[in-house]
Amino acid sequence: MEKKRIAVFISGRGSNFKAISEHIKNGDINAEIVVVISDNPEAKGLAYARENRYPTQVFEFKKGTDRVKYFESIMDFLEDRDIDLIVLAGFMRVLSENIINRYKHRIINIHPALLPSFPGTHAQRQALEYGVKISGCTVHFVDSGVDTGPIIKQAVVEVKDDDTENTLADRILEKEHIIFPESIKLFCEDKLKIEGRRVKII
Ligand code: GRF
Repeated sequence: MEKKRIAVFISGRGSNFKAISEHIKNGDINAEIVVVISDNPEAKGLAYARENRYPTQVFEFKKGTDRVKYFESIMDFLEDRDIDLIVLAGFMRVLSENIINRYKHRIINIHPALLPSFPGTHAQRQALEYGVKISGCTVHFVDSGVDTGPIIKQAVVEVKDDDTENTLADRILEKEHIIFPESIKLFCEDKLKIEGRRVKII
């Protein structure tokens, strides 16, 4: 089977990107990271990308930027790069319909809560404020809603009485670094089958 060609989108630290990169390097995932795109020139994950010689491209999202045009320029950039999969690894922008349709069922996101609970930003804070006893993370395909696409994998963590937003986020992050690479591996082996809202592993 041919290597899948991946574009990774980041906005910040890039720890999920790094976890995925390590699984590709050790041969566990049959893929190539073709480019790392960031909306933030200061994203820490860009340093890791450069150190590891991944091509990087910054599409800065400035105040007043038109979202549709913004994603059109990203699509133009990706057009001749033959991308099989877009991985949103802490990319903090809601994608436009255009790019979602262009890469239908080929965009994957990680969210730090058990969807459909606590979509959107500050998911760990939402979980603490609500008082749930378990939370976790979700890998899903991206559709036109916010964190609403078909779910590939989820992992659970306990919420402890003395948790702060940071301690809970750290415990969830450890699980993210496991289920995100696992999900990408399945995608790259053509093992994910979407049936309506359900994603089956074949
Ligand atoms: C993660 O918690 C992820 O679930 C969320 O943004 C954070 C990104 O972290 N979407 P990192 O940049 O991968 O370290």
